[in-house]
Amino acid sequence: MTGVKKWALDMACVPWQATILTLFPTMFPGPLGQSLAGRALKNGIWSCQVEDLRPYGLGSHRAVDDAPFGGGAGMVMRPDVVDAALKAIPVKKGVSRIYLTPRGRPLLQQDIQHYAHSAGVVLLCGRFEGVDERVLEAYNLEQVSIGDYVLSGGEVAAFVLLDACIRLLPGVIGCEQSSVEESFSKGLLEYPHYTRPAQWEGRDVPEVLLSGNHAAIAAWRQAQAEAVTKQRRPDLWSAWVERSKK
Ligand code: ADE
Repeated sequence: MTGVKKWALDMACVPWQATILTLFPTMFPGPLGQSLAGRALKNGIWSCQVEDLRPYGLGSHRAVDDAPFGGGAGMVMRPDVVDAALKAIPVKKGVSRIYLTPRGRPLLQQDIQHYAHSAGVVLLCGRFEGVDERVLEAYNLEQVSIGDYVLSGGEVAAFVLLDACIRLLPGVIGCEQSSVEESFSKGLLEYPHYTRPAQWEGRDVPEVLLSGNHAAIAAWRQAQAEAVTKQRRPDLWSAWVERSKK
């Protein structure tokens, strides 16, 4: 049995599991309850377990944060509170535990592919200035950023990571080829797309796409993918050139 077929069979029995630890549990599944991801959720392709951090808070106010040692702006999420919440989540083999933070390593399509092929993810969404470093160390959480900007919390980053994984799960996108050919999966940005009408507001579809010559179309698309990558993403282009030399 091929790897892909085995993966599809495994997935057919046990949903891919998303567990989200958050102070805003009603945000989930949010946009992931719509469209492709929403249908996949209803069909049991993935499951969404939300763990509210608030009940793990301390005292009558269920405090989850405190002032930073050393002074400075904002509040920090307490390690004992996050620890208690993480302890309540069963440890499952093959499930990555991830803290979403602008201090994390950049999230790449290859990470998404890894998570999507695993049993699922546990996502810790931070708020305020972040989470006490000791609990991140104690649990050896992966620290992941969705980009070089600061969000008001990890929840939106969790949507991004989950959406990118869910669309790769077997049975979510009809045409398997589209996730193979898309941007990043081969290390290049994608070629441009066109559909009817062939002429629109004085702009024509590139001639070659109407030619029916599949080899010429493939060559044109490859050249376009290379050109746009070179222009917009010199970092990806250099890596592509290096790989092509090997
Ligand atoms: N939380 C706040 N900003 C973030 C970012 N850029 N990536 C992941 N989590 C975040």
